[in-house]
Parts: sequence; C-alpha cells; structure tokens
Amino acid sequence: MNCNPAPKIQVFPSPQELAQAVATDWIQSARQAEQAQRQFSVALAGGSTPRLLYQLLARPKNSRQIPWSWVHLFWGDERCVPPDHAASNYRMTWEAMLKFTPLPQKNIHRIAGEIDPPQASQAYAQEIQKVLGEDRPSFDWVLLGMGADGHTASLFPGQTLLPEPLGICAVAERPDQKRITLTLDTINRAKRISFLVTGAAKADRVHDILEKTGASKKLPAAEVCGANVEWLLDREAAARLRQ
Ligand code: 6PG
Repeated sequence: MNCNPAPKIQVFPSPQELAQAVATDWIQSARQAEQAQRQFSVALAGGSTPRLLYQLLARPKNSRQIPWSWVHLFWGDERCVPPDHAASNYRMTWEAMLKFTPLPQKNIHRIAGEIDPPQASQAYAQEIQKVLGEDRPSFDWVLLGMGADGHTASLFPGQTLLPEPLGICAVAERPDQKRITLTLDTINRAKRISFLVTGAAKADRVHDILEKTGASKKLPAAEVCGANVEWLLDREAAARLRQ
C-alpha cells in the first residue's frame, strides 16, 4: 500500500538507544496530555522487542516524570491465554513495567485472553469505545512490533480474521493459540503509530516494506498507514535500506 504521507524512518545505533528515545517521547507526550487535562491512551506492542522500553519506563528516573494517572494502557493484541501465562503480552508488560509503576488499576485495559475469544474481542472493543469516548476510537499512540514474516499485532499474512460487529478488534485464528487483535482500521486511525523493530532477522522484511518491493504486497505491516507513522529501527534491522 502506498502510504500518504510516507512513514518517517529513524535508525538508532542500538536497541537501547531506540528504547530510550521512545521513553523520552512517552514522558513528554504524557506530560503534554496532563497539561491539557486529557488522558493519554497508548496501545502497547507485544512480543520481546518492546520489553526494553517498558523496563526503561519503569525505572524511577523515568517513571517519576510520568503523570501515570493520565495514562491509559491498552494492548494492540493478546494471545488467548490467562494473564499469568508465559505467552501473555499482559504478563510480559506486568513483569517489565506495570508492577513497578503507580498506574491506577482502572487505567489498565487488559484483553481478557482467558475467556471465550469472540466474547473477549467484543468486550475489549466496548471498553476501548467507552474509555476513548468514540464509536470509531482513535488511540493517541499505537506501538507496534513486526515479525520476520511481516505480521504486526496479530495481523498475519493471508490469515482470516473474525472481526467483532463493531470492527474495532478481531479474533485471529493461529496454529499455536487464538489471538485478539486490533483491526488495521483501528490501528490506522491512531494519532501516532510507531513501529519498534530491531535485529538482523527483520532486515529483509524492513527492506521489502520501506522500499516497497513486490514482496511487501499484502504484508499486514505494509498496510499500516496513517497521518503519523514512523519506523524506529536499530542498525541491524535497517541494514538493507538504501542510505
Ligand atoms: C505479539 C506481537 C507481535 C510482535 C511481533 C514481533 O503478540 O507477538 O504483537 O506482533 O510485535 O511478532 O515480535 P518480537 O518483538 O518478539 O520480534
């Protein structure tokens, strides 16, 4: 898909420097929301890449700068497992950040991976609408990872989704376990979308998508377009991009 405007690309020397840059943005954005007396809604990425960011945000030197009571956390996707399961994105976020921060419980909008997937998808969509106060909700910030196959959130190449009636999220049928994911429409309505992609394993796919080779056709990560999309890469993931 040809995105207009084209996504911004930023390359960092290391995953640590990438995470610190995002943490600094997070602090600034949350404080701007507080000053404007409005909530700051973020849909978090799952997987392993963002763990570094979450650990940084939990560090006292960063956490004490964040007006957590104005922050509302959601997830871009979740595996259909209980919240204490090793595969749970919520558990990863709890271990890396949530248990160290004063974020009010009511500001944590977890996907109920432990219940019937269609019910979880419907309930999550209704919670997003209620908290964001919009029928067609627009997150302030959506953080995304990307798999080496070009998937993002739980939007996988060639898969069929079972969207709940509101079209805000969907059940993704996967061989390992079902997942609940934001739909592409919901992601693309966000005010800001940041891909955090690191490691050599992603370099080929990053090249396909950001240089729009034929191989990027129909890759979910290539379909993410919006007013403000950025790809934050480390040197390894950016290795095949034209300088
Ligand atoms: C998930 C994520 C998924 C992830 C990519 C990249 O639930 O697994 O939402 O989209 O972002 O698979 O994962 P890594 O960061 O572990 O490479």
